[in-house]
Amino acid sequence: MAILLQNIKSLLQVRTNEIRKVSGEDMKRLPTIENAFLLIEDDTIVDFGRMEDIGDLEGDQTIDCSGKIVMPTWCDSHTHIVYAGNREQEFVDRINGLSYEEIASRGGGILNSAKQLRDTSEDELYAQSIVRIKEVMSLGTGAIEIKSGYGLTLKSEVKMLRVINRIKQDFPLKVKSTFLGAHALPEEFKNNKTGYVDTIINDMLPIIAEEGLAQFVDVFCEKGYFTVQDTDRILKAAKQYELIPKIHVNQFNAIGGVEVGVKHNALTVDHLEILEESDLLALKDKSQTIPVALPSCSFYLGIPYTPARRIIDSGLALALASDYNPGSSPSGNMNFVVSTACIKMKMTPEEAINAATINGAYAMGIENQYGSISKGKKANLIITKEIPSYSYLPYSFGSNYIDRVIINGQAIK
Ligand code: NIG
Ligand code: FE
Repeated sequence: MAILLQNIKSLLQVRTNEIRKVSGEDMKRLPTIENAFLLIEDDTIVDFGRMEDIGDLEGDQTIDCSGKIVMPTWCDSHTHIVYAGNREQEFVDRINGLSYEEIASRGGGILNSAKQLRDTSEDELYAQSIVRIKEVMSLGTGAIEIKSGYGLTLKSEVKMLRVINRIKQDFPLKVKSTFLGAHALPEEFKNNKTGYVDTIINDMLPIIAEEGLAQFVDVFCEKGYFTVQDTDRILKAAKQYELIPKIHVNQFNAIGGVEVGVKHNALTVDHLEILEESDLLALKDKSQTIPVALPSCSFYLGIPYTPARRIIDSGLALALASDYNPGSSPSGNMNFVVSTACIKMKMTPEEAINAATINGAYAMGIENQYGSISKGKKANLIITKEIPSYSYLPYSFGSNYIDRVIINGQAIK
């Protein structure tokens, strides 16, 4: 079926297919067509241009977009959206003075989620997770990366990854899955970290790879979690199975995670709330690795924001993602992420929108089909309500100015 969008006030993020990501100064530009039309056929963008050039183009259905902005859906390249239960007690504990790290060292945090997940059946985990999937789609997310990492045993990690794969099959949004066995040290291995890393390498990786359950591999490289050496071992082993690294680094401490990520050609290094000059240098050194900032996590935990200005002003690309998870970012709202990046990280609206669309797509390795308005890319569109300009979206933080979302050519309720 062909759908023709007409009288679009501004059509944002119009790019040729060759653009894979935007970096540095280029992030300040958001190519836009004013007073535009866009034609989609089934799940694909087939044509667009200025209304004056529309000729006799017709669709089976026409949508009038007068006063409205049309743009690609958000590409959320870092989430832990599949989880069991919640952690609102820890939220209250933090209000009363405990830190995220203190809660974790008392057996809360990731281990709390792991315990809840192990006690939850696959069907129940799926049922809980799709509530959030439906929510983020309605908020304009059309492609998402989802991590395991609350299982921490082969059985429970596989359970999580199977749920992720069911979501992939059942929903129109694009899903990429990441194996994050090295998220925390499970109780059973409390005094035997090497033993757990061995288990990841010898028992988990082969089965997960054989069953095709993940495309990416992740490690929480952080003091008290996994060292640079652990990370190196896991990434080296994962390479045999062609799992591409996307890793958690520099959330609380810079311990050399960026360098080890770049060394293993990681697609992304995520968090970077703490960033050393040497980290920037490692990323600038001809690496294809893209840094990913997670401002909702900084907002929620009250930790520093990733220094986006330093990253972009040094010529690098930056992606923005939600980090949706029960402990450090219980929100998958990419509209809030974009607003917060503008307000707290001093990213311009153009930079933030680039970071959450084309660069987010690059951060999942799907930039050939997602992240921009380009002929042949997937019909993943946000149609806003009538608004004065695209800057109005991040400006009016907390409000929802989305009128409709189209994902893979389908209207989302
Ligand atoms: O990205 N830092 C590690 N992992 C998650 C938090 C996980 C949790 O608290 O459940 C993050 O912030
Ligand atoms: Fe995370």
